[in-house]
Amino acid sequence: MSRRTLAESYEKIPTHIFPNSGAAAKALAAEVKALIEERAKEGKNVVLGMATGSTPVPFYRELIRLHKEEGLSFKNVITFNLDEYYGLTGDHPESYACFMREQIFDHIDIPKANINIPSGTVPGDQVFAHCREYEEKIDAAGGIDFQILGIGRTGHIGFNEPGSSRDSLTRRITLDRVTRQDAAADFRGEENVPHFAITMGVGTILRGKKLVLMAWGENKAEMVAKAVEGPVTEAISASFLQDHPDARFCIDEGASRELTRVKLPWLVGPVSWTPRETRRAVCWQAFKTNRPVLKLTDEHYNEHGLSDLLSEQGPAYQLNIRIFNQLQHTITGWPGGKPNEDDTYRPERATPYPKRVLVFSPEPQDAIVAMGSTIERLVEQGHDVRIVALTSGSLRISDSEADKFAGTLQELAGVVEDSPAWQSQVAYAREVLKQLEDKGEFGEDTPMLRQLKGLILRGELRDAAHACNVGTDHVTFLGLPFYEQGRYRRFKSTEADIEALTSLLREHKPHQIYATGDAADPSSVSGICFKLLESSLKACHKEEWAGSASLWLYRGKEKPLAAHEIDMAVPLSPMQLERKARALSRYGSLSSLELSSPESNRQNASHYDALGLAEYEAIETFQRWSRV
Ligand code: GLP
Repeated sequence: MSRRTLAESYEKIPTHIFPNSGAAAKALAAEVKALIEERAKEGKNVVLGMATGSTPVPFYRELIRLHKEEGLSFKNVITFNLDEYYGLTGDHPESYACFMREQIFDHIDIPKANINIPSGTVPGDQVFAHCREYEEKIDAAGGIDFQILGIGRTGHIGFNEPGSSRDSLTRRITLDRVTRQDAAADFRGEENVPHFAITMGVGTILRGKKLVLMAWGENKAEMVAKAVEGPVTEAISASFLQDHPDARFCIDEGASRELTRVKLPWLVGPVSWTPRETRRAVCWQAFKTNRPVLKLTDEHYNEHGLSDLLSEQGPAYQLNIRIFNQLQHTITGWPGGKPNEDDTYRPERATPYPKRVLVFSPEPQDAIVAMGSTIERLVEQGHDVRIVALTSGSLRISDSEADKFAGTLQELAGVVEDSPAWQSQVAYAREVLKQLEDKGEFGEDTPMLRQLKGLILRGELRDAAHACNVGTDHVTFLGLPFYEQGRYRRFKSTEADIEALTSLLREHKPHQIYATGDAADPSSVSGICFKLLESSLKACHKEEWAGSASLWLYRGKEKPLAAHEIDMAVPLSPMQLERKARALSRYGSLSSLELSSPESNRQNASHYDALGLAEYEAIETFQRWSRV
């Protein structure tokens, strides 16, 4: 069987892996353009099924570009959106109606009458009729020709949460807890996320003639693999696409990582045994057979589809030792390099010593969460460590924290003796409380509130950095403009962001850089920050410091690095892990995922232990960033 056919035997939905979301969006938009123009020539309409979330944003941007630069007209296009939050009016900034206006409809020539989005405000007793009419309207328009889909963390399409049946139609649905958690940042707190939505059903979606599901970034990888390779199940509504004659997945490399052909390529066909693939296969073999690397035998490799590797790099005895040594050499207590020591087998070079180290944190908590102990160690070992918070992170601070601050300020003014001198502070606190009240729980933060929330997070980072022995003068708040002017899922970076980053790099000329976001959804804060950093480093690549700087990637909100992906493993003692947890406690606004970071550090250690390496309490992990 050819490689493609073998892959297909695992993949029950045709899946195209693009190098990045931009390339996928371009290809899909070109396909839609061709369809619109072909129908226009025939004097016919096209019916498009539209999705929301960050996923379709690059696709919409490309459609807008085609309209503005290549004259694509949407006059013959009718659209139906998948869903809408129930309880939000169309002008609420998080309503899908508002999202669609901002992201596409306001920028193209589609007639308003052709736009259909379920209503979020239809009275409870009319929901059923409204949903039935929505179905009828789709049929009256001739059915959906081309349906765009994203995928949620519960594997849902539209808002068809686990349990949605194959034949479900447009209806009101209760949102899953995971879905509400994922929307928490958009709504400034989980408590503000609506509990219900109106969504097209799985059956409605499957009536579409052509279905394309897009997914970007590693956080989608697990669900993509389950939907594409797993059984068709109500637990993952995207898996129903397996039953459709013309459905496909268009994904980027990050979202493809859990597919068999990417994760276990030797099961699908011949593999080019690069050092990374070899390490992947050996670690997989060890985990699968529950044996440390040095105890794997020729039989183990042969029995699990790795005879190829064995004949190229075996026997097992030699292969095991080689990989064991590689893994062993990733472990270092000297993340900045060990001065005056042979560094042949160390992850980081010994010179120069001490190093100027820049640790980039997309939001002010990311770096401490992922590498707080490594930061502490770098400082302890004499390096000049600077933490750079790229954005203020103000959007993640809830109203209640701003409220608490203003309330305390007011009270303080009441108890200090020299109260007249506090008049301006009291006026500030009053204004904050008033603005909080005026905007209501769903309203947009005013610049003053955004500033205050940003300052709260700044204080938290300063505190946490201090707990890692980094002084306030070594914490930089860059406040990249893209973040200050946007909202989650709709950020747009510009040259101003690159300029700010480039001049910071030129000012500090780092020897070592830590960053994150390479595996993230490119429209997330860390995804955008990573791209910006790449561009800034490119801009400086001819400068001497940039050519020799070592670059390390850490994982923040994304899946932790797998054992074979780790190039530097910094072990933590129980005391160090405790200190890290203490540093994390300085933040008042960490998500449950972030709070569980010490646990994930412990898991890294148990993976290394299982591979037969020394048993540590916990490990922080890094991957070498191949030069931009
Ligand atoms: C929401 C939407 C889905 C979307 C999902 C993923 O649940 N109702 O249609 O696919 O979010 O969002 P994102 O693309 O931002 O990851």
